[in-house]
Amino acid sequence: MAIRLGDEAPDFTAETTEGVINFHEWIGDSWAVLFSHPKDYTPVCTTELGMAARLKPEFDKRNVKIIGLSVDPLDSHAGWAKDIEETQGAAVNFPMIADSDRKVSDLYDMIHPNASDTLTVRSVFIIDPSKKVKLTLTYPASTGRNFDELLRVIDSLQLTANHSVATPANWKNGDDCIIVPSMSNEEAKAKFPAGWQTIKPYLRLTKQPNK
Ligand code: BEZ
Repeated sequence: MAIRLGDEAPDFTAETTEGVINFHEWIGDSWAVLFSHPKDYTPVCTTELGMAARLKPEFDKRNVKIIGLSVDPLDSHAGWAKDIEETQGAAVNFPMIADSDRKVSDLYDMIHPNASDTLTVRSVFIIDPSKKVKLTLTYPASTGRNFDELLRVIDSLQLTANHSVATPANWKNGDDCIIVPSMSNEEAKAKFPAGWQTIKPYLRLTKQPNK
């Protein structure tokens, strides 16, 4: 069964490079990014893990924990982590799940048999503190993900959760936001005292509320 937006993220207990974790307990009151990579000791994955490690302070700033996964065992993750530090200029500073029995991969439908029946695709799940799935992404093995885009989506999701605004196409942090259509003008007056620009009754732009 596919995992859909708004579903509760399936819980699990797994072995990771930082010990055994229970996923929901590990998330706690944070947001979380769970991402799978096809295989240890492969080039695209090496660059992705290095990028995620370099951007960890940006995830921390947003109260987001990140966790990687592949179907390789712990000793493989540990050996590969040395290569990542050596070649990517950053040591892996987040847990990596060793999913040799594919328990988590199956739970999250990360193995797409017509792509590969042994390796996970590049899945991403963004999960909020109530453990609800807020974003799913699936990339092929040959395309490294854009981790700046994940941060951008997290900024947008957190603006919606905390300030009732949505974000337009190609929005960047600092750009104007959209007042959610479910909010009446009366409610918006109280929420956005500095006002907004009405392009159409359903398209109301306001300054980014947390800037
Ligand atoms: C890679 O990470 O480079 C990779 C992994 C599996 C298939 C293709 C590329």
